[in-house]
Amino acid sequence: MLTLRTENLSVRFGRFHAVQDVSLTCTGPGVHSIIGPNGAGKTTFFNALSGILPASTGRIFAGGRDITRLDPSSRLSLGIARSFQITSLFEEETVMENIRMAVQAKRGKRSQFFRRAEHNPDITDRTRYFIDLFGLEKVADTPVSQLSHGLKRIVDISLCVAGEAGIILLDEPTSGVGIDDIPRIRRLIEKLGKDHLVVLIEHNMSVVLGISETVSVLVRGTLLVTGAPQDIQSNEAVQAAYLGSSHAPA
Ligand SMILES: Nc1ncnc2c1ncn2[C@@H]1O[C@H](COP(=O)(O)OP(=O)(O)O)[C@@H](O)[C@H]1O
Ligand SMILES: [Mg+2]
Repeated sequence: MLTLRTENLSVRFGRFHAVQDVSLTCTGPGVHSIIGPNGAGKTTFFNALSGILPASTGRIFAGGRDITRLDPSSRLSLGIARSFQITSLFEEETVMENIRMAVQAKRGKRSQFFRRAEHNPDITDRTRYFIDLFGLEKVADTPVSQLSHGLKRIVDISLCVAGEAGIILLDEPTSGVGIDDIPRIRRLIEKLGKDHLVVLIEHNMSVVLGISETVSVLVRGTLLVTGAPQDIQSNEAVQAAYLGSSHAPA
């Protein structure tokens, strides 16, 4: 089930092809990174995968099921989550409360939505499990508004996992993050890759090359190449595509 596949996927803005004819299979568990110069269409590709933008042509499959026409919330309930770069966090609530709400949103639907979350041992245990999993014990009772940018990112990613997604889309999770928090985010993504499919857009090449099983390169909306990190790093076409860019993979 941990497969996300596009077939000749294109996304157009007017006459401009932001994503053009991309056929890509991402198979988990593991980390599959998507890299490419600024404006290559990476975020647009993610928006199409998560259902925020409609595909102009082509199809998208999750575990063999055609999800091309499903809205974002239907894709989420199938287990495809996208981290929303912090905007989905409840800033005034504690880390624990944020995670509890994500757990409850998933679990509460099933059986006990009429009970208060605090009195629901299942939700409480599950929330604690995620607090431990993400190493958030020390900040569990801290309001999100008081966290560093890097820790907010970690809480944001944890919400995808707490919502029990199997496929997690992360768009530049280290961007704007202080240098001290980057190794922690890197370790977290690596850990998630053990039992999730993580599709990662990332500029930090040491993160990409260190934790990805597979790397795909997008250039001007088209897929240039997909391969193992070391092959991508030494690929001449990839080097050429990055000429003049500050994010070269070398
Ligand atoms: N809503 C939009 N309307 C028009 N053009 C857009 C829109 N979103 C993105 N684009 C354009 O599509 C191209 C790809 O953008 P994007 O997917 O954000 O690239 P990346 O994430 O790789 O930097 C860019 O040229 C961008 O200006
Ligand atoms: Mg982008």
